[in-house]
Amino acid sequence: MIVTTELLFEHAYGNYAVGAYNINNLEQVMGLFRGNVDSKAPFILQLSKGARGYTDTRILEAMIRGAEEVFPEAIFAVHLDHGDEETCYDCIDSGFYSSVMIDASAEEFDENIAITKRVVDAAHAKGVVVEAELGKLGGVEEHVSVDEADAKLTDPKQVEEFVRRSGCDSLACAIGTSHGAYKFTGSQGLHFDVIEEIARLLPGFPMVMHGSSSVPQDEVQRINAAGGQMAGAKGVDEAQISKASKMGVTKVNIDTDGRLVWCRVHRESFIDTPENFDLRPAGKIFMAEYAKYIMHKNEVLGSAGQLDGVRALIDQKAA
Ligand code: G3H
Ligand code: 13P
Ligand code: ZN
Repeated sequence: MIVTTELLFEHAYGNYAVGAYNINNLEQVMGLFRGNVDSKAPFILQLSKGARGYTDTRILEAMIRGAEEVFPEAIFAVHLDHGDEETCYDCIDSGFYSSVMIDASAEEFDENIAITKRVVDAAHAKGVVVEAELGKLGGVEEHVSVDEADAKLTDPKQVEEFVRRSGCDSLACAIGTSHGAYKFTGSQGLHFDVIEEIARLLPGFPMVMHGSSSVPQDEVQRINAAGGQMAGAKGVDEAQISKASKMGVTKVNIDTDGRLVWCRVHRESFIDTPENFDLRPAGKIFMAEYAKYIMHKNEVLGSAGQLDGVRALIDQKAA
């Protein structure tokens, strides 16, 4: 069942965070649904502009609709990740997305509000909710590129005004993370002072943490042992993610970790079975390993085991 992130956040806020996992292909979709259903977790399936262009948005939508039938117990939101204004309108009009992110964080404060408000007005008219972003994460990914020098933590003093004037439903806050596999060089971590202050100024308002992959070191070692070159890759400490999940960080975005699972499985598969040229054996292993990763991450977030509670909230609202 596709629901809005608003409903998921209402159930989660302050107790746990909902995992928001980026998806590009069929194997990821299957692993994602399997892992969340098996750990009884609500989740957010998110599609980036890059994912939408990788094959065709109709293929993506059909895969997700198919998974919805195969896994009827699943409760999830379909979310556009890092949208520009035009892509947001496209997703809102499609009737398929329950949530969009307008990422105008590169703009000045007033312009960010103006763009976000236009998207909010269009989205709310169709029952779609909106995530906005204030502050700038470091790091580089396709469509998401901010120089370290330009990265800027969210200023808690600006948050109330931003939310009030833009009307957004949740806010991506820069709290020390960055996208990709190389987040930290030393012992840096999350800025809990910023999280705490935003939660104090806007109690109950969901914060979103981008760049939340933990870049498991055993994955990195296995990738490197199988010919990869990922020296120095480092992610967010899982104990810090768990702590933030109880402080108002209600959506935790993860893409890179799923790519690492994919990379490890396929690198090892080519080494272990050099005679094989069939795509399915590695695909099967990936789906199972990705599901295992999702189940573990849901334990870290506290979303594992929350599905019945979410279903009860849906029933209560419908009564
Ligand atoms: O934050 C960005 C996501 O990891 C999506 O990455 O644009 O390469 O699909 P992508
Ligand atoms: P990671 O690169 O840490 O997985 O972050 C993904 C993300 O923020 C997607 O919006
Ligand atoms: Zn992001």
